[in-house]
Amino acid sequence: MNVTIEVNGQLTSRAVPDDRFLCDLLRDDLGLIGTKVGCREGVCGSCTVLLDERPVRSCLLLAAQADGRRVGTIEGLATDGVLHPVQQAFVDHGALQCGFCTSGMVMSAVAFLDDEPHPDREQISEALAGNLCRCTGYVKVVEAVASVAATEQPAASDGPGR
Ligand code: FES
Ligand code: FES
Repeated sequence: MNVTIEVNGQLTSRAVPDDRFLCDLLRDDLGLIGTKVGCREGVCGSCTVLLDERPVRSCLLLAAQADGRRVGTIEGLATDGVLHPVQQAFVDHGALQCGFCTSGMVMSAVAFLDDEPHPDREQISEALAGNLCRCTGYVKVVEAVASVAATEQPAASDGPGR
């Protein structure tokens, strides 16, 4: 079937087999290899991307299911060569080693902070529980995400007199 998906702000159309998964469309057809594929069973979270701003396992989602929708990958986070604050925080806090889990972690964290800009560490740990890391462990990851949360300014509507 033919699918049209907005990937990182750019519309793209492709003829894909009905059984093609979104992760394979992204990596093999579009060359967006920042999205990693680990287990292919929905367990490790390394393939996490955003679908209409919500985190999804791209190894479980058919490309056809993304037809007409927006997909965000790690490649779309930086703006004009400046890393997204969550990406920068991972670097600053040494929250990665091999990096295999990192794009999935970052995409999950971005979506989570969008919903919950001022989480505590427990909430961050829970939010990232579906993203497995085999080398760094989770302490630095949680620290990185917490540092972004700490620098987020309260929305204007949170202030007095509104
Ligand atoms: S590769 Fe998709 S969850 Fe592991
Ligand atoms: S940094 Fe290697 S798996 Fe997480």
